[in-house]
This record gives sequence, structure tokens and C-alpha cells, in this order.
Amino acid sequence: MQKAANNWIDLLDRSAMVRSVPSVLKAMAGHPVPLRVTHCISYRCNLDCAYCSRHDIPGSELSTEEIKHLLKLFRDVGTLFWSFNGGEALVREDLGELLTVGKNLGITMSFATNGTLIPDRIDEIGGAEMISVSIDGPRDIQDAARSSSYGKVIKGLDAMAARGVRFNLFAVIGSHNIDSLDHVIDLAEHYRTAAFFQPIRIQKEDETENARSYFPEASRMRDAMAYLAGEKRRSRPVASSYEYLESIGKCWPNRMPAVRCYGGRLFCFITPDGFVTQCCDTLASASANKECNLITDGMAALKNIPPLRCATCYSSLPLEANLFFSNLRRNPLGAMGKAIRGALRV
Ligand SMILES: C[S@@+](CC[C@H](N)C(=O)[O-])C[C@H]1O[C@@H](n2cnc3c(N)ncnc32)[C@H](O)[C@@H]1O
Ligand code: SF4
Ligand code: SF4
Repeated sequence: MQKAANNWIDLLDRSAMVRSVPSVLKAMAGHPVPLRVTHCISYRCNLDCAYCSRHDIPGSELSTEEIKHLLKLFRDVGTLFWSFNGGEALVREDLGELLTVGKNLGITMSFATNGTLIPDRIDEIGGAEMISVSIDGPRDIQDAARSSSYGKVIKGLDAMAARGVRFNLFAVIGSHNIDSLDHVIDLAEHYRTAAFFQPIRIQKEDETENARSYFPEASRMRDAMAYLAGEKRRSRPVASSYEYLESIGKCWPNRMPAVRCYGGRLFCFITPDGFVTQCCDTLASASANKECNLITDGMAALKNIPPLRCATCYSSLPLEANLFFSNLRRNPLGAMGKAIRGALRV
């Protein structure tokens, strides 16, 4: 069983962190190095969660060979971390093969999943260094919002724990679960891992009303962030950083946290059909930028990502990365020291 953690740095692969230092320095000097890639490998999904519109986005998917080509292309420019996301990554039959190919190229591989297909696929996912499993709360809450999946998710977590597979939990905070976040922390404690939290947000313009119906009042979100920060202070396994929790408490649902955007520079997202974009919030429109096609334009596609001025930035990975690199820019010694202390667990 894995060790308990209470910081996202605890969950990172140590050797990849050390190897990332030259790329971070290069990127801070203005040269884009996509250290971490999130590839939404498919928008298809076996569930139909109430607040999610990602699985409704139509479009084609890259072939196994095309994805292997992209893994090599990114490895050659310094990418160290690659995460498959979706839709549901496990609907792709070739997920295990791709995880192994990436691992053999020296990339630290991971994927995000709803967890329900893990027991059937447990033999195929050994190439993943970390697996992020979504769970929002106790059985009644999870089943109402996430397609009656509680029992299957727990079976998936048990299967991974029995094999020693590393995983973390990931919860979306909405009006459905905002008073039950302790359950997710209890589960993380039980499995000796940690849980990330992110607030509900609008994923696609035409789904605004549905997602909004899961929005709690801003004051309740603020209280939830204060609660999570308090639990983290008590050494309970909340992986989201204090800076992230504080930014969400202050800014959600309509203010921009005080960060620069490193999307498309130090991290990027790829659509199922192979278009590169800043982050998960820009996926839905990314394939319209014809010059951002990685298959036809190679790494030149990265330089063609159109700049954005965002009104909000709340998703877990993009905001954590933006906060970290913005701090690094403002206070290089302080931010590096914090990362090293985290990596050494002191
Ligand atoms: C789109 S899913 C894809 C991966 C996988 N299917 C899963 O559920 O973990 C990635 C994460 O986004 C979360 N998510 C879905 N809809 C959301 C929304 N409207 N606001 C914030 N997060 C959302 C999911 O709960 C999940 O944790
Ligand atoms: S949140 Fe994940 S599991 Fe749920 S419908 Fe969206 S993509 Fe599927
Ligand atoms: S939402 Fe955040 S990470 Fe995404 S493009 Fe906007 S500022 Fe960048």
C-alpha cells in the first residue's frame, strides 16, 4: 500500500522532478518546454455524470501509431510527465500499450479515470506511475451525480491497493457534495493516499445552465476551501496546495486568481483529434485552430496556440501549475526551497 501524502509534490515522481530543473530554467528564460502534457485520448465515456459535458464533444480520435509518434515528439523536446484524460481513458483498448510505450521512452505516465473499469483492466496499467480516480462523496451522493458508480469505484480502488498500484483521489466540489467532503478525505486516509479538489465550473458554453445548477453559493465554496485548508493543516491528506485553496476561496466563481498563464508553454493539453491547446478550459474550441494540429504541423503547432485573456482559472492542474510557476518567477529561491522541502518531505 502506498504512503500517505498531503501535498501534490508528495505525489510526483522524484527522479522526474530532478530532471525537470533544466527545462524549468529554460522555460523561465522564455523558451516553451511542455514539461507536462495532458492528452484527452477520447471524449467517449461509459458514464454520464450530471455536471460533465466533456463526453458530449463530438470528433475523431488519433490512432495508436499517431499517439506513439506524439509521445516521441514531446519526449524529444523535454516532456517529462504525460497524463491521459478524457472522456474516460480506459474506453481506449490501447491505453495499457501506450502507457508502456511512454514509460519506455522515459516519460512519467499517468491517467485520470472514473475508476469503474479498473478491475477488468488491472493487468494492463502497469506503465502508469500514478492514477487519478474521481470520487465526489458517500454512496448516495456519488451515485446520484456520477451514474451509480460508488460500488464500482471502491472495487477499483481495492483492486489497485491490493496490487500496490499508486493512485490519488479527485473530487469536484458542487452543491451536491459540498457538505460531505470529509468522506473523500476519509477515503484518502483509508487508502493512504491524498485527494485533490476542484470547484465545479462551466466546461462548454452550451452547457452553462446545467453546470450552473450545481453551483453552490460563493460563501459556501469559501467555507469549503477554509475547511480543506484546516484539514490539511491537521496533516490530513488534502493534496491541493494552500495557495490553490486560498485562490479558489477568494476568486470562485467569477474572478481571476493572481497568476500568469503557463498553459501552452510549461504544460499543455491535447484534444482526442491531436490539436494542442493551453488547458482543459480551452479544449472545446481547440480543434478550430487549424494551425495547432500536432500531426500535420509537429511541434510548430505549440507556437501557434492563440494567446488568451481568461476571466477565470480554477481547474486543479492548470491553476496549481500557474500558481507554482508564478511564485517561482516572483520569488525563485522561496519557491524552489518549498519544492525541494516537499520533495524531501521535510
Ligand atoms: C472530465 S473527467 C475525465 C476523466 C474521467 N472520466 C473522470 O471522471 O475522472 C476529469 C475530471 O473533471 C471533472 N469534471 C467533470 N465535469 C466538471 C465540471 N463541470 N466542473 C469541474 N470538474 C468537472 C470530473 O469529475 C473529473 O474529476
Ligand atoms: S466526469 Fe469523467 S466519468 Fe463522468 S461523464 Fe465526465 S468524462 Fe465521464
Ligand atoms: S484557464 Fe488558466 S491555464 Fe487555462 S488558458 Fe486560462 S489562464 Fe491559462
